[in-house]
Amino acid sequence: MSTFTFAQAIAPESGNIAEAASGTNIPSEIAIIPEPVSVVKNEGHFVLPANVTIQSAGIPELKQVLAFLQERLSIPTGSYVSVVNNATGVTPTIKLVLNDKANPVLGNEGYQLSVSNSHIVIKANKAAGLYYGAQSLIQLFPKEIESKELVEDMDWKSPCVGITDYPRVGWRGLMFDVARHFFTKEEVKQYINAMVRYKYNVLHLHLTDDEGWRIEIKGFPKLTEVGAWSVKKTGEFGNFSVPGADEPRNYGGFYTQEDIKELVQYAQERFVNILPEIDVPGHSLAAISSYPELSCTPGAENYRVRSGERIMDWSRGAPPTALVDNTLCPANEKVYSFLDSVITQVAALFPFEYLHMGGDEAPFNFWEKSDAIKALMQKEGLKNMHQVQGYFEKRVQGIVESKGKKFMGWDEILDGNMSPSAAVMSWRGMKYGTEAALKKHDVVMSPTTYAYLDYMQADVITEPKVYASLRLSKSYEFDPVPAGVDPKYIKGGQANLWTEQVYNIRQAEYMTWPRGMAIAESVWSPREKKNWTNFFGRVEQHFKRLDIAETKYAPSVYDPIFKVSRSADRQLLVELSTEVAGLDIYYSFDNSFPDRFYPKYTEKLSVPKDAGMLRVITYKGKQPVGRMLSMPVDELNKRARK
Ligand code: ACM
Repeated sequence: MSTFTFAQAIAPESGNIAEAASGTNIPSEIAIIPEPVSVVKNEGHFVLPANVTIQSAGIPELKQVLAFLQERLSIPTGSYVSVVNNATGVTPTIKLVLNDKANPVLGNEGYQLSVSNSHIVIKANKAAGLYYGAQSLIQLFPKEIESKELVEDMDWKSPCVGITDYPRVGWRGLMFDVARHFFTKEEVKQYINAMVRYKYNVLHLHLTDDEGWRIEIKGFPKLTEVGAWSVKKTGEFGNFSVPGADEPRNYGGFYTQEDIKELVQYAQERFVNILPEIDVPGHSLAAISSYPELSCTPGAENYRVRSGERIMDWSRGAPPTALVDNTLCPANEKVYSFLDSVITQVAALFPFEYLHMGGDEAPFNFWEKSDAIKALMQKEGLKNMHQVQGYFEKRVQGIVESKGKKFMGWDEILDGNMSPSAAVMSWRGMKYGTEAALKKHDVVMSPTTYAYLDYMQADVITEPKVYASLRLSKSYEFDPVPAGVDPKYIKGGQANLWTEQVYNIRQAEYMTWPRGMAIAESVWSPREKKNWTNFFGRVEQHFKRLDIAETKYAPSVYDPIFKVSRSADRQLLVELSTEVAGLDIYYSFDNSFPDRFYPKYTEKLSVPKDAGMLRVITYKGKQPVGRMLSMPVDELNKRARK
C-alpha cells in the first residue's frame, strides 16, 4: 500500500485548516464553486496516470460517483480508468472511502478530499458526500477536463490539497418551469447535469400552469391530450395575439409516468430529489381547458390553454384581476376528488417527502361573482377571498398528508392561517419566509430579490425583456437564513427559473448561469467565506469550463450599467459603471462600433445634442469581454424623464 495517509494531507492539528478557512487568499489555481469550508494547499501536484484505478466501497449508491469519475477522467484525457475492489492489493489511484464511524462534522453530504502527488482519497459518511468530493476533484483539474472529446497534449494535473467541506443548508434547490415552455426529458437531464456540478440537491419541477399540464395522470387523459398543447407563437410572451380557432395546437408536450420514473431515477443517482409542483388553485387554465367542470365560472368550456396572450391585469397590484378564470373552484367537490387522484399518482411517482401545491397569485375576481363561492363562504363562515383560498389550501394539505407527504406552497398560503405542518416557499422577498419561520413553519427561501433567474441579468436593451432585473452581484448577496429566526426552520434556499420568455434549453442555461453559481455558493459555503471579488475570479474560470462543457451562460456581468441624469442646464448626462472591478469601457456617439482605440470612459458623458446612439463595450486590458451595447439616445431621454 501507499505510504500516503489521509491524515498527512488534512491533519486538523496542523492548524492549516483554520488558516485557510479564515483567509480568502486561495491561489487561483484552485477555483472551486461553491467555495469549500476549508482548503489547504500543499506543495506539488498530482499527475493523472495513463491507467487510473478507483477503489470504492461496493454499494449501489456509488454507481454514479464512479460513472462520473470514469467519464471525466477518461474521455478528455484518454486515460484508462478502471474500478477495483478492496481485495486486489493494488494501490489505487483514487480511493473512495465511506467512513466506518461517521464524522459528525461532515454530516450526510460533506466530504474530505486529499490530493497528494501520487494518490487521491475522498472520504465521506454517505455516498452523496463522495459525489460532492468527486465534483470538487474534477474542478481541480484543468478546464479541459470538461471536454466531451479527447484533448491532446495536456498536462492532466491537480494541485495537492486537503479539503474539508460540507453544506451550510440541506435544501439547495433550482426550480425549472417546464410548464410555460415544455422541455424534453433529455433537456431536463442536461439541466440536472449542470446543477450537480454546483452541488444542488433539489430540482423543483413546476409541472402545471396556464400554458401546459406536463404530467400524465391516469384516468384524466385530457390533461395531456388537451392541456399539454398550445399554439406556437414567437416574440414577446405575454403580449401574443389571441390564437384563432384555425391555428394548430401542436406546441408543447408532457412526461409520461414512465418518463417521470426515469427522471426521478436519473436525479436520484446524482443525489438530487425532484420536488413536483402542481400549481393550484390559480395558474390552472390548462387543467380547466381540459376539464371545464373544475371551474366555478360559466362558459369555461370555451377556455383554451394559454399561448402567451394576455390573461391577467396586474395594473392594480396583487392579487391580479383575471381576464379569464384560471382558478379551480374551491366550492366544487369535484375539484377535491380530481386533486385526490392527481396527488395520489404524483405522490407515488416522486419519492421526495414534499409535494408542492402552488397557491400563488390566485385571482379572486371570478370567485367574487360566483354563487357557489358565496354559498361556501356562508356554510364555512369565511369572511373574504383570502379565507376562501385558505379553506382550499387546508383541504389540499389534508389530501397531500393523507398520501404520506408533506405539504408545501408558495408564501400566499400563509394568508389562509395554515397549521405549522405546511411548509412555505418564500418568493415575495424574505419577509414572508421570515414570518413563516417565526410561526414555526418550515421554510425554503427563494426570494425574487436575489433568486429569480427569470429576471434580466443586465440592461433591458440587451436581455430578453422581463419586468425586473437581477444582477449577479445582487444574487451573490443572498443569505437564506435571516437574522432573528431559529435557523432550524430554514430548510434552505432555492433559485427559480420561470420560463415565460425562455423558449429553449440554451436560453434556460443562459438564465441559470452564472447566477446559479452565486446561489449555490450562498446555500453551500459558510457565510463568512463569501467574498464577491474572490467569487467573481472563480466565476471567470468557470466561464471557461462551461465553454468547454458546452453549457451556455450569460456574460451580462461584463455589461456596463447606465445611469442617466440632467445637468443644471438640462444637458443629458450618462454615468457608466461595471459590476466587476478592472474593466475599461470604450464608447462612441457616432454610430460606429467602439474598440479599445476609441475614447475610454472616465467620467459622466455629456450626450452630444444631435447624437442618436451611444455604443459601449467593456475590455479587460486588450481583451473585449462585454458585448457591444447600442443604447438609443431616445431611450436615455426616456429614462431621464422618469
Ligand atoms: C411565483 O413567482 N409566482 C411563485
